[in-house]
Amino acid sequence: MSIGIDQIGFFTPNKYVDMVELAEARNVDPNKYLIGIGQKRMSLADSTQDAVSMGINGTLRYLDNIDSAKVGLLVFGTESSVDQSKSASLFVKKALNLAPEVRTFEVKEACFGLTAGIMIARDFVRAHPDQTALVIGSDIARYGVATAGEVTQGAGSISLLISSSPRILDLNDGHSAWSDDINDFWRPNDSAVAMVDGKYSTQVYLDFFKHTFAAYKEQKGWNTQDFSSIVYHLPFTKMGKKANDLAIAGESPEVAEKLVKAFEASKQLSMEVGNIYTGSLYLSLLSLLERGELEPNSLIGLFSYGSGAMAEFYSGNLVDGYQDQLNPRGDQALLDRRKHVTIPEYETIFNAALANPTDGEVLTSDEETGVWYFAGTQNHIRQYRQK
Ligand code: CAA
Repeated sequence: MSIGIDQIGFFTPNKYVDMVELAEARNVDPNKYLIGIGQKRMSLADSTQDAVSMGINGTLRYLDNIDSAKVGLLVFGTESSVDQSKSASLFVKKALNLAPEVRTFEVKEACFGLTAGIMIARDFVRAHPDQTALVIGSDIARYGVATAGEVTQGAGSISLLISSSPRILDLNDGHSAWSDDINDFWRPNDSAVAMVDGKYSTQVYLDFFKHTFAAYKEQKGWNTQDFSSIVYHLPFTKMGKKANDLAIAGESPEVAEKLVKAFEASKQLSMEVGNIYTGSLYLSLLSLLERGELEPNSLIGLFSYGSGAMAEFYSGNLVDGYQDQLNPRGDQALLDRRKHVTIPEYETIFNAALANPTDGEVLTSDEETGVWYFAGTQNHIRQYRQK
């Protein structure tokens, strides 16, 4: 039975920071950020964009293409949760007018949350082939002004529709998972920014990649050359390059060239947006699909990593006509609409967004018409409005 990704929607807020300007402000050689880290820009969320609003906006990118009456499951993966109890998905369900019969909840395991949702959705659709599942990953990556992780921030969401007649990527059975209780990156309840052991986190990421990729190939009886491309969780694009270098080590020049070319295509959107945590792997996938010129049936490997740490490798084959389901112009327009902010402006907006607005204060958004935003709390209840 075929189960896979039928639709992909992407959203990112309407402001960005330029990495050369950030480097200059931090007295760093710009090439460290551009080449050493591999980022050009990062999207910036102001006080009116949060995980919920971005999740709604990402899903709205394709909602008109689907039969929303068939949605039986809505899973929201995030590590930028807005409530300790109520699921972010309930706000989304209301905004999108989904049926009350929909099963819906939030999941968390750092950047692995969206992949966890996909695996739950795969099982759900297998049991209910006449229904579909919406899976959203939405996050704001925050390390803090003038920290080592600052250059690896970002904001955005990816929304996926999983169905038994997928029009984009047909998922293969099986997966290889690996987990361990470690402290490479975490965010305690009393902190609005992440805590991180940066160098250690990159080492664990690579160790987990080696482990899951080798185990997956063994499980399936496949070799590296069987993959047309591999997409990676991209906290910053140099991280994925290091994993891709491991994947191609010892392979023929043809295989290496194929996987390097695919990686270059897959990193383009992340270079512009930055880390979006749960959605980052799927932003790489979207970038690859839009820029990779892949043939139908191409085998794509996916490496998901969530700090703490949990990793999984799985794969899918491209469905004939997948390009018809994409909207590269719309995605480019989403990036092009972003306003450039100076470094002092970024610092002000960033720090303001860390604080909760006073209850009763109504926030207004400078977004475009149709975009959903967080409008503050009334009696401590979060309010979401459409511009
Ligand atoms: N020109 C070109 N390259 C330069 C350069 C220059 N002038 N100056 C430095 N570089 C290179 C360095 O050689 C280095 O390259 P390699 O990694 O290939 O050796 C690179 O720039 C980074 O420089 P540093 O090693 O000095 O890095 P740093 O101390 O500034 O920290 C970081 C980098 C650890 C990634 C930090 O930004 C960080 O902590 N980020 C957040 C954590 C993170 O994203 N971890 C990823 C794995 S965890 C995960 O994936 C989950 C998640 O989403 C967070």
